[in-house]
Amino acid sequence: MQSLDPKPADFSDPLFNSREPAGDWFMVTKHGGSPIGFSAAMPAFKDAFSDEEIQEMIAHLKTLAGDHNYPPGDLNYLRAFRTKKAWPEDEVVYLNRFTRRPDGEDAVVNALEFERRWFARWQTEFKLVHEFEGSQGRWDEVEAGAKYVLYDHLPRTFLLSGGADFAVSLRSGNEAEAILFLAAAKGLGDAFTLQTSLKSHLPFRDAGEGDLEWASVVHWIPTPWPRGVFPGLELTARIPFQPGDQDAVQWTILPQLNFGLSRRGHVRAAAGVEIPLNQRSYDFRFHAYFLWDYADGMFWEGWRKSRARPAGISEYE
Ligand code: HEM
Repeated sequence: MQSLDPKPADFSDPLFNSREPAGDWFMVTKHGGSPIGFSAAMPAFKDAFSDEEIQEMIAHLKTLAGDHNYPPGDLNYLRAFRTKKAWPEDEVVYLNRFTRRPDGEDAVVNALEFERRWFARWQTEFKLVHEFEGSQGRWDEVEAGAKYVLYDHLPRTFLLSGGADFAVSLRSGNEAEAILFLAAAKGLGDAFTLQTSLKSHLPFRDAGEGDLEWASVVHWIPTPWPRGVFPGLELTARIPFQPGDQDAVQWTILPQLNFGLSRRGHVRAAAGVEIPLNQRSYDFRFHAYFLWDYADGMFWEGWRKSRARPAGISEYE
């Protein structure tokens, strides 16, 4: 064991044991490390064991960390654009949004978000936002916040989190707001996932000028391989606390595609178009993101099949 490079996984560590979905471990055990971008030292067991036997082994591996408070990674679903994720992530995300306005004042927003897990159920996040309006660019906003997993139930495939973000505008005036949110995730059979979030934006100057934002997304997961294309459909509603002369509820729909880029699926991209269903203050919005889940390895790892070599050879190299 000591001579293996990389070392086989330590299944008694509750963070490691809980983080990866059983389905991903099934794929690693059945097909070996190499096709999923892990080490070829992890052999494929598809000729030695049936799918049921592999499933039983994985179920056993999942018990090796004993009793713990870490939520199961099986409830970590794909990131959407407007729906807040319930799962606590270790991720760096670059986000881009282009808004086409009827008056020609198109806007481009670029943001960088850093998310980090703490303890069993916490996550903090930090976001820096830059905006181009017409030809003028400026730093728009910084956001910092925390999220906590309130409830998880693997047999019912349900996860619920709550948290708060604080956003400070970097434009003149330095306005600030608090964003309180609840986020839930629910599996819908083997091939679909549902995520919903409810956020309330509360400006410090006058919370009454804020709003409530509901967003939900369904993703279709057509393949168990992490590298692939995963379609999603998101629906959002914004409910201002003080509706003006416009409709009380503003609806949008956002079809999107999520791409697992690396073999491990730890580097992903997504693109989608948001279309207002009423109150067309903009014609459409193009959303895109690019993310690296750094808990699953360095950015450059896990892209290619690794070369098979006899286990333990590193000590002779
Ligand atoms: C039926 C027995 C086995 C099962 C169920 C099993 C399962 C797994 C799983 C689930 C992982 C985790 C991958 C991850 O998410 O990080 C893993 C990693 C690994 N396993 Fe196994 N394994 C078995 C036998 C072996 C054997 C016999 C070896 C070596 C001779 C081995 C070497 C490795 C190595 C080196 C890794 C780390 C891969 C990496 O991080 O790149 N495994 N194994």
